[in-house]
Amino acid sequence: MDVHQAEFIKSAVKPKDYPETALPEVAFVGRSNVGKSSLINVLVNRKSLVRTSSTPGRTQLINFFDVNGRLVLVDLPGYGYAKAPPELRKQWQPMIETYLAKRENLRAVVLILDIRRIPADGDLDMLRWLETYGIPPIIVLTKCDKLSKNEQARQAGVIAAAIGRRREDLLPFSALSKAGREGIWRVITELAGL
Ligand code: GTP
Ligand code: MG
Repeated sequence: MDVHQAEFIKSAVKPKDYPETALPEVAFVGRSNVGKSSLINVLVNRKSLVRTSSTPGRTQLINFFDVNGRLVLVDLPGYGYAKAPPELRKQWQPMIETYLAKRENLRAVVLILDIRRIPADGDLDMLRWLETYGIPPIIVLTKCDKLSKNEQARQAGVIAAAIGRRREDLLPFSALSKAGREGIWRVITELAGL
């Protein structure tokens, strides 16, 4: 996708605050600190349209971004951040689940996994959950720059087995080198019907 314009629309917690739009939407989910916001920045060719941080729990609201006036990308808070204040954690799960269950223009969800880690319960729960709601998952293995090519191939196999998918269906990515960007855009635009 040739991105010529990307802008923040708004943040929301509840459905009444979501932007009113009929544009196709694609959301990004994953464990806290896995690299969701960084992936969106690379996709839209902007260093810091979306705030990123080395501290987990950076993204705390649902953030909507318009791309080319044709597509909306949605950055969601991460799950599985044990140190978040309990009050905040209690709000996150319903906030994410309500969004995924109710958003009618949602076409696909990008599930981001750290290529170095075995998927956690939160990741497996999310995959099952997407299946239940009939939302197609796009599975990205990020932080590939942290491993050699051989280790990447090995880890992709381990992760594919852990989540019961084919290795070819997992898209390797690095926010550092931007490797994998085009392939992810291809799947997003196809599922968004663009
Ligand atoms: P929360 O909003 O807290 O859930 O985090 P997030 O999933 O949005 O992660 P974010 O994009 O803020 O990135 C977390 C940290 O990982 C930052 O320090 C990033 O620089 C780093 N990071 C993200 N992607 C990559 C990558 O592909 N390679 C490397 N080496 N670091 C990455
Ligand atoms: Mg974030």
